[in-house]
Amino acid sequence: MHPDDLLKFSLADFTYNDSPNVMDPPQDFERWVGDPRIGMAMSFFEQPLQGAPTPRMTLRQGMSGENRQMINLTSYNYLGLSTHPEVVAAAVEALQTYGLGASGAAMLSGTFDQHQRFAEELAAFKGREACLLFPSGYAGNLGAIQGLLQRGDVLVIDSKCHRSVVDGAKLSGAKMVSFEHNNPASLDQMLERHAGKRRLVVVEGVYSMDGDIAELPDILDVCESHDVPLYIDEAHSSLVFGETGKGLVEHFGVEDRVGVDFGTLSKSFGGIGGFVCGDANLIQYIKCYASPFQFSCALPPAVVAAMRKALEVATRDNSLREKLWKNVNHFRSNLEALNLDLGGSRSQVIPIIVGSSGEELIQLAMAAQQRGLFLQPIDFPAVEAHARRFRISVSSQLTPEDIDEAATIIEDVIARPLGLVGAA
Ligand SMILES: Cc1ncc(COP(=O)(O)O)c(C=O)c1O
Repeated sequence: MHPDDLLKFSLADFTYNDSPNVMDPPQDFERWVGDPRIGMAMSFFEQPLQGAPTPRMTLRQGMSGENRQMINLTSYNYLGLSTHPEVVAAAVEALQTYGLGASGAAMLSGTFDQHQRFAEELAAFKGREACLLFPSGYAGNLGAIQGLLQRGDVLVIDSKCHRSVVDGAKLSGAKMVSFEHNNPASLDQMLERHAGKRRLVVVEGVYSMDGDIAELPDILDVCESHDVPLYIDEAHSSLVFGETGKGLVEHFGVEDRVGVDFGTLSKSFGGIGGFVCGDANLIQYIKCYASPFQFSCALPPAVVAAMRKALEVATRDNSLREKLWKNVNHFRSNLEALNLDLGGSRSQVIPIIVGSSGEELIQLAMAAQQRGLFLQPIDFPAVEAHARRFRISVSSQLTPEDIDEAATIIEDVIARPLGLVGAA
């Protein structure tokens, strides 16, 4: 590998390890990752926050190693529930009662009264008969898909579905195929091609890299015409979309047409955990065959107690959701004025698509960080190579001043250098 060529490679190129010894990573990978230019890009990974994921927080910067006050546009704490005083108080109180960990898998000793009540409350919130909690959202998709499918079945997913869905297919042994993103005609073709098989379609509510939303009514029409059930991953849309925060199914009024409703507690809920809601007999069945549920410790009871409070706070009125949407609209109008490419975003996830140059993306990211913006660059292969980007996660906790200041920095360090507004 010639040094001049190093930047042509990405993380997508080193998954195959040709070393004879499994303990040795590929030599090319070591050469690549050791290059200072790649090191600079890597320095954006795992930068430690020095406090809560609030809009103003301190980050230890990967490049300089120094702590710096930042405006945080990266955390998934959409409704600020991670630091909501009532949520934190519920966790503290439960810690005193239950101790730290669950100390067991849910089937054996890891289920506490908190878990059972929360599962009932989540099911009621989603308007479903039952709900199953998982240690994480990733584990939830893995387990639910494993529980639903088997060898010989076909999982038909939107091409932009999350890795946990893809890995769920692997664990289940089912064949996995994808249809063009949000394209009902492509879905129709895929379902037709696999007619005669047991099939399941998976889409997301809000797509996490693009912030666009599933065209649910059209997708459901296609599913129903093939008599195939739909599984929706509402990781980024629960508590954000719909009159009462149920998610995209409520936004479109299609609750009764969706078979399985999946969510995670790590985004708007501000905690950790995954949950799957559906008919009672189905949830009972998944419970018995989902390895990530069976063979992993249950969620800490104090986290569950805090998540119960988070659900209560987020649903007792619409104030947090309304604040979030006000902030989304404010931020969007600032960004639109800068002529930035925001893709098809229709949610609190707003990408700023900057193009195909990885080097340019990292240069812009460095400049943003130097000006005090915690705004992560998203590079290939996480997104397509022609659409490298930044991704803003809007929070209800941002003040109008935070948003305006962040937009000014974006104007100076992204829009101007890209020539989208007046000269730098
Ligand atoms: C669409 C989607 N599904 C599932 C997950 C996994 O959730 P968690 O991070 O809670 O494990 C994520 C996480 O980013 C996601 O974006």
